Amino acid sequence: MTGAGLDGTLRVSPNLGALADAMAAALAERAWIAVQARGVFRLVLNGGGTPQPLFERLGRPPLQGMDFWTRTEIYWGDERCVPPDQPGSNYRQAADAFLNANPIPETNVHRILGELPAEEAAQQYQAVLAAHAEPGRTWPRFDLVLLGVGADGHTASLFPGHAVPDPHASVLAVTADYEGRPAQRVTLTPAVFNSARGVWFMAAGTAKAGIVRRLLEGDEPQAPVPAQSIRPVEGELVWWLDAQAAALLTPK
Ligand code: 6PG
Repeated sequence: MTGAGLDGTLRVSPNLGALADAMAAALAERAWIAVQARGVFRLVLNGGGTPQPLFERLGRPPLQGMDFWTRTEIYWGDERCVPPDQPGSNYRQAADAFLNANPIPETNVHRILGELPAEEAAQQYQAVLAAHAEPGRTWPRFDLVLLGVGADGHTASLFPGHAVPDPHASVLAVTADYEGRPAQRVTLTPAVFNSARGVWFMAAGTAKAGIVRRLLEGDEPQAPVPAQSIRPVEGELVWWLDAQAAALLTPK
C-alpha cells in the first residue's frame, strides 16, 4: 500500500462473504502461531455489522472446536453500555455467533461490563487489563485486535472530536451518538491498540469507500480522525476490505 495514508497491508476480497472467509482462515493461523509461541492467543473483538460474517465463520466448521480455542483469551476493544443479554451488546453478538460454540474456558472471556455506568465499567475493565498484563505493564500485549471504522473515521468507540485525556490510560468512558446505537460506551485507547502484535481493520460496502480512501491515500489537509491514530508500534497492520469499500482506491 502506498500514498500519504497509513502504512500496512491491503487485502481486498470481492464481497463481504469472501472477506470473512479470508479473515477467518488468517485468524486461525495467527491463533496457532500465538499458541505455539506463547501458549495463549489474546484476541480483541470489535462490534458492528461488518464482523458478523467473520464471527459466524468462527462458530462453525472447520474452525469450530479447534484446539486453539482452549488457549484463547477474548477481550473487547469497545462495548456499548447495555446489559449483556441485549441485542446492542458487543459481547452478546460475539457470544451468539461463536464464543458459545467453542471450547473457550469461561474464565478466558473478559467482557466489558456494559450493564454498569460507563465510568464504572471503564475503571473495572482497566483493572481487568492490568491483572492480565506482564509485570510492570498496565495492559496485556494483544496478539490480534479487530477494528471497524465508521464513515466518520471513528474506530472502536474513539470518535472524532473526543480527545483522549490521558495518553497512558488504557480504557475510557465515552458518550457518542452513532446510527442510533447505544450512546454510552467504553473503549480501549490507541496506546493499547498500538502495542498489539497485530491490528486488523475491516471495512465493507460503498458507505465506507470515502473514509477508506481518506485513511489509506488521503493527502488533503483535514483534521485527523481517530482511525488515523492506530499504528502498531511493533506489530502488523492489515486493512481487510471488500471491493465496494476499496472502490475509490487508486488501482495498482
Ligand atoms: C461498535 C464498534 C464500532 C464499529 C464501527 C463500524 O461497537 O459499534 O466497535 O467501532 O466497528 O462503528 O461499524 P459497522 O461495522 O456496523 O459499520
